[in-house]
Amino acid sequence: MTVELMANVSQHPGWKPVWSALMASQVRVKELEEELRTRQLSLICAFNQLLDLKDMNTGVHSTRLAEWAVRVARQLGITEKDLYQYEVAALLHDVGKIGIPDAILRKPAPLTPEERALMNKHPEYSWSILRQLTGLEEAQQFALHHHESMDGSGYPAGLRGTEIPLGSRIVSVIDAFDAMVSSRPYRKGLPVEEAIRRLNQSSGTQFDPTVVQVFLSIAQPELNAVFAAAGTSVSAAL
Ligand SMILES: [Fe+2]
Repeated sequence: MTVELMANVSQHPGWKPVWSALMASQVRVKELEEELRTRQLSLICAFNQLLDLKDMNTGVHSTRLAEWAVRVARQLGITEKDLYQYEVAALLHDVGKIGIPDAILRKPAPLTPEERALMNKHPEYSWSILRQLTGLEEAQQFALHHHESMDGSGYPAGLRGTEIPLGSRIVSVIDAFDAMVSSRPYRKGLPVEEAIRRLNQSSGTQFDPTVVQVFLSIAQPELNAVFAAAGTSVSAAL
């Protein structure tokens, strides 16, 4: 509608109620969008709680990991409106482990090839769960590809380099770091310094070097402070 036409229409006596109704419907749409977002957040929190109850969140608190993922993504130029997808992927990329038998998930020994093949299905299971939630198309892809490697040796698709979605490359680094420093019933977590060394060692082959660099620039100073205060267990202090 041109400015001139708009001016003419707004002079019309019948315009005022139409304008009021239009404004009211816009406010209602905003309210509904907000309500939808709130309900989706509740679902995401519920899924996250489910992972906690199944003891599938490892050691570093999942909200801390999600916060790091968002900060890394922001520093890599992702706009504020898209950060939500990264946050959800960081929280729920392993939700598909719900479909893996406990005997495999908790096995205190190396997995057999058959068990490993089943375990490696969990990114696809995560994708199949997250695709039930509308508006999370990017997060679904991030979860599906979070075990890809930069050199193409990962799974499920064997993507390499920038073929791997950025959100997956971020989750991959943060997830690996969490797994390394976290203690499990059958093994003690690695010291932070060793986990950092291993991240750097696999930078370029397994991990995106830029993501590793940005992640460490954000997390390392904080981890050192936490580690110094907590004594031996970083995970327990987060
Ligand atoms: Fe995973």
